[in-house]
Amino acid sequence: MQLVFATNNLNKLKEVQALIPANIKLLSLKDIGCFEDIPETQNTIEGNAIQKAEYIKEHYGYDCFADDTGLMVEALNDAPGVYSARYAGIQRDAQDNMNKLLDELANAENRDAHFTTVVALHLNNHLETFHGICNGSITKTKHGKKGFGYDPIFQPKDYDMTFAEMDLSLKNEIGHRGKAISKLVHFLKSHNSKI
Ligand code: IMP
Repeated sequence: MQLVFATNNLNKLKEVQALIPANIKLLSLKDIGCFEDIPETQNTIEGNAIQKAEYIKEHYGYDCFADDTGLMVEALNDAPGVYSARYAGIQRDAQDNMNKLLDELANAENRDAHFTTVVALHLNNHLETFHGICNGSITKTKHGKKGFGYDPIFQPKDYDMTFAEMDLSLKNEIGHRGKAISKLVHFLKSHNSKI
């Protein structure tokens, strides 16, 4: 079986590749000759994940899956949420985004937050979604060099380190994307006895 993972984010690709069984051939957008920005214009995480998967199926004809993720911060009424990528502006810069979030929370006592990922699968003309959540809190300063995005300031519940201080295997085990992708793999296995 082969499936396109509709992302240009090499960090996401690395995380997901580690969870997908070896007998599923993962194709990248580059592999299918897609070099354009895939539209993400919906106002929900689930809407954006579905939009990306449908776009690839419609324009390139491949069965595929796409993920969309948001960071919801309690003290900010769940912002940045669906706008996490461009929280500090259209340059979509991770350092700018983290700096803005740390500034916004400078006087906040409640630093609780969670990541939500929705994975949308387009398979045999059928659409399926898989959800993953990771609860935690926003640290006061950045810690760690691994991972990407908001990882240096997100500390998962029950751990005393940020995602950026964790090995990929631990982030995948307890993280939002890992949980959603594990559900996707379970679904694929239950529909295909060869996986
Ligand atoms: P998107 O799913 O690529 O649209 O991600 C939205 C925003 O959340 C971007 O700024 C990403 O860098 C950030 N993000 C997505 N997944 C993660 C993650 O696993 N850890 C930290 N930040 C993430």
